[in-house]
Amino acid sequence: MFKGWFRRRATVTATPSNSTYRHGNDTLIELRNVTKVFETAAGPFTALDNIMLNVDRGEFVAIIGKSGSGKSTLMNMISGIDRPTSGEVFIGDTAVHTLNESEMAVWRGRNVGIVFQFFQLLPALSLVENVMLPMDFCNMFTPRERRERAMMLLDQVGMADQAHKLPSAISGGQQQRVAIARALANDPPIILADEPTGNLDSKTAQQVFTLFEKLVDQGKTILMVTHDSDMARRVSRAVIIADGRIVNEYVAQALPALTLDQLGWVMRHADIRTYAPGAVIIEQGSQADNFYIITSGDVEVFIEHPDGGEIIVNHLSTGSYFGEIGLLRQGRRTAGVRAGFATGCEVAVLDQHEFHTLLAESEATRNTIERVARERHSQTQAAAHDDM
Ligand SMILES: Nc1ncnc2c1ncn2[C@@H]1O[C@H](COP(=O)(O)OP(=O)(O)OP(=O)(O)O)[C@@H](O)[C@H]1O
Ligand SMILES: [Mg+2]
Repeated sequence: MFKGWFRRRATVTATPSNSTYRHGNDTLIELRNVTKVFETAAGPFTALDNIMLNVDRGEFVAIIGKSGSGKSTLMNMISGIDRPTSGEVFIGDTAVHTLNESEMAVWRGRNVGIVFQFFQLLPALSLVENVMLPMDFCNMFTPRERRERAMMLLDQVGMADQAHKLPSAISGGQQQRVAIARALANDPPIILADEPTGNLDSKTAQQVFTLFEKLVDQGKTILMVTHDSDMARRVSRAVIIADGRIVNEYVAQALPALTLDQLGWVMRHADIRTYAPGAVIIEQGSQADNFYIITSGDVEVFIEHPDGGEIIVNHLSTGSYFGEIGLLRQGRRTAGVRAGFATGCEVAVLDQHEFHTLLAESEATRNTIERVARERHSQTQAAAHDDM
């Protein structure tokens, strides 16, 4: 259902702690090994499992996942509304997970604007008073500046002419625009929006989304939980959550026909392995056992020449897979594969049983992989033939 939305930026990883953590040039939000366990009547429940997430300044990130996958819990870790059971949350230079309650309230008021699905404007206050509230709370700007600023923000969202109305006198879409103005009150660098368009009709939702795009253009960093796949495609990056884990974006890119559930299944079953530059991953002639998806770096596919040399038949990089030919033929490896000589690689590995389970679950994935295998196999044969 969600296809073709992946931006090719290497800023998110979802891997065990033994892999290298990649820093962007201008990281604003950084979650390191964040786990959240809720104590429930039925016992402990892991809502977030070892999340690694890195968001650069100025990114517009969609958070996608099924109901109950952990999206709101993730947002609460970033806003400091809730704390991780283990792991660390850094926003700029602030270690958010270490702040006490009063430090947290002040920090949040100045650094994070929050937009909710149900607007949550205070019903007894006028719109302009609602927008002034965060400035009053954080004691930002002088009292006179506060009103002027609130009017300026209402103007920015197209609501200045209704500033003195109560929330009950305007529509849902208008209330959400006022809520966005309120989120901007203290000029925070980050906006967190949890399904901000979930309660709006599609035309109004578009207007709100366009407003977010404008804010990103002005330099804000926005994380938005959404169920709307069209919106998810239009942002700079989509982060997929399944069962409390981030689905590696390159795994999702490699297997675009999988549903969110199936991607979650792959993330739970895949082993993440790293290979040093030049290390052999597959030996030609060995029995096929695993399927590999490249999540970082690249690989070379080669065949041995009868006179002892070798022929490079393919280069593959992140978001590609290999190892499928031998598994589909249930035979020996027709070519060798080694990690690229520049940076080595990291791969997500499924064993043959898991690979066949996956193909049985997703016919579209099976068809694509079978087609790719046929094309590659004939390429390899042609290369061997040409050279002999
Ligand atoms: N305070 C809590 N105590 C116990 N379990 C919780 C608590 N908060 C969340 N959970 C559980 O953690 C899981 C993730 O919840 P979360 O609200 O993050 O999901 P979500 O992805 O935002 O879902 P939705 O799309 O329905 O909003 C769910 O199974 C939920 O029941
Ligand atoms: Mg939620």
